[in-house]
Amino acid sequence: MPVDDFLAGLPKVELHLHLEGSLEPELAFSIAKRNAISLPYADVEDLRAAYRFTRLQDFLDIYYRGMSVLRTEQDFYDLTFAYLTRMHAQSVRHVEVFFDPQAHTHRGVPFETVLDGVYRALIDGERLYGITFHLILCFLRHLDEEDGFATLEQALPHQDRIFGVGLDSSEVGHPPAKFSRLFSRCRDEGFTVMAHAGEEGPPDYVWQALDGLQVARIDHGNRALEDPELVRRLAQSGHTLTVCPLSNLRLCVVDRMEDHPIRTMLEAGLRPTVNSDDPAYFGGYMTENYRAVVEGLALSREEVVRLARNGIDGSFASNDRKAVLHDELNAYLAQTA
Ligand code: HPA
Ligand code: ZN
Repeated sequence: MPVDDFLAGLPKVELHLHLEGSLEPELAFSIAKRNAISLPYADVEDLRAAYRFTRLQDFLDIYYRGMSVLRTEQDFYDLTFAYLTRMHAQSVRHVEVFFDPQAHTHRGVPFETVLDGVYRALIDGERLYGITFHLILCFLRHLDEEDGFATLEQALPHQDRIFGVGLDSSEVGHPPAKFSRLFSRCRDEGFTVMAHAGEEGPPDYVWQALDGLQVARIDHGNRALEDPELVRRLAQSGHTLTVCPLSNLRLCVVDRMEDHPIRTMLEAGLRPTVNSDDPAYFGGYMTENYRAVVEGLALSREEVVRLARNGIDGSFASNDRKAVLHDELNAYLAQTA
């Protein structure tokens, strides 16, 4: 079986996906049109041509501009459902997705409008495609902790629909420690917590996420490899790293896919997983991210299977659901042996 077909059919789990980063230019234009908003780009090609980044902040500027077309509950539904339809076509079986409520409430879109649209689509995706999910609220780290607390107050009445909280946006200059009181409160409220760390920020930010925020998972974590003591710590604690290969390439976290550290992470006894981050902006969804590392690093079938298993084991799915996902993976491996 050709490797592309094997990767397309491989049952997969996505643990690092910003819903707003799955907004394809075509959908952005059609939503802009129905909301009578004009985008500062001539057409879809012109917008896609703007997707050239040399660092995280260049991307974030365009990411926030793109999502500004999202206004109604239906917009958030359509965004989320389009993502799930793609994931169904790519044999993705479980997703844990981020949303950035502050990026919407600061534009005057009510918190409930965002949550209701996203959640309705997630329920439909589970019903129609069998894709199970968790929804994770990300705090924007370029804003202050008080803004985060205000957002938490808006989230608390909806805790039945929000599984966990994360920390995203501009990393350098906004260390995890800036949010230690907020994350402590979130843990007390029963949210599972995670944080982006070590994408552009130094290994110390990963230490802060672990020891200060007490995260259950590290999003990215690439730069942890610069600190041998931190590598030992992560290997021992078994924290999952939600690695995003095409994102790393597009944001120049790595220069070439041949230099991507995901195999080094495996060899160091860490638990990396493959994810897409902001697929509309970085050139690919789950299958494309697997393909990128398989081609760039000539990963073996065993290494690919290890990454897929890490996705299941590193998820926050129930033990029963994890067992089903492993069974599906095992059946697929037997069938493609
Ligand atoms: N890093 C930080 N913040 C983000 C990202 C990312 O890759 N994508 C969306 N928000
Ligand atoms: Zn991310």
